[in-house]
Amino acid sequence: MKASIDRWVLITGCSSGIGKALVAQCRATGWGVVATARKHASLADLPPGDDLRVVPLDVTYAHSLQSASDACKDLRLIALINNAGYGQMGPLELMRPEELRTQFETNVIGLQAATNAFLPLIRKNAKKGEGRIIQLASVLGRLSIPMSGAYSASKHAVVALAETLRMELGPDIPVIIVEPGAIQTDFRQTVMAAWGDLPQRVKDTVYESVVEQYRIQREAFAREHGMKAEDCAAMIVKALNARRPPRRVIVGRDSYWAQVAHRLAPAALFEWAMRRNYGLK
Ligand SMILES: NC(=O)c1ccc[n+]([C@@H]2O[C@H](COP(=O)([O-])OP(=O)(O)OC[C@H]3O[C@@H](n4cnc5c(N)ncnc54)[C@H](OP(=O)(O)O)[C@@H]3O)[C@@H](O)[C@H]2O)c1
Repeated sequence: MKASIDRWVLITGCSSGIGKALVAQCRATGWGVVATARKHASLADLPPGDDLRVVPLDVTYAHSLQSASDACKDLRLIALINNAGYGQMGPLELMRPEELRTQFETNVIGLQAATNAFLPLIRKNAKKGEGRIIQLASVLGRLSIPMSGAYSASKHAVVALAETLRMELGPDIPVIIVEPGAIQTDFRQTVMAAWGDLPQRVKDTVYESVVEQYRIQREAFAREHGMKAEDCAAMIVKALNARRPPRRVIVGRDSYWAQVAHRLAPAALFEWAMRRNYGLK
């Protein structure tokens, strides 16, 4: 039955947002998709078909990665999209070590562990140059802004790991780094959930109004200017299907112009503008 599909891609974090949009668009371009999520139920609404396999996966657990890789053994898996991730936002001064650690466990260590879990299958199945590893970084993997220290550090690490991996794998398996700006997904709701008691912690500190302003501003910016998850997914799928894949995919005008400004503006000016923008006096 599965033999009719001759190329499979595994995607992490398919329960919502970019991951969910990727499932549909990869399938639409002829890929078989191994759609993964922490909660099986969150994938229940995916239209069934010979080109879909639903597998539970939490990238922070070695046994979960092992079971997911075992579940793909009979497929011609040749591509991986490491999409799972979240943002642990907040002023660094008030960030707990465990919050920073958990951010890295998912966005960095989980991403590399997933890469290592599926690379042997991709190596075995893909012809030279046919395999793909796609790592979801962020504009915040190229520059840093207030409130995003932990997340930005994790995405800088994703970029570093991907650039190293690209050199280590060479042209056999191209590695693509995706650098989105604001995308309209559940990302910002998850940020609020990951905050926990941060709104209480910031009370009577210099960050109280900064956190509140961040919450209102970032949500409004994404709502008004953010790209749709489907449009972001379309750019990723284009890179996935490209005969000569790009090294980087910058997604969104905000990502592009922020990177240009960061490169061209004097550091003092960039930092002054960011402090001002985030209400830091
Ligand atoms: N939205 C943006 O503005 C934006 C901008 C730049 C980069 N990105 C990056 O794009 C990627 C996708 O985010 P999104 O915007 O689509 O947000 P989203 O809708 O919140 O989706 C994030 C996905 O990651 C999954 N996930 C989180 N921790 C996981 C873990 N330990 N194991 C497996 N899956 C896990 C979530 O699963 P659960 O449902 O189980 O939590 C969810 O499916 C992330 O890497 C994010 O950093 C997003």
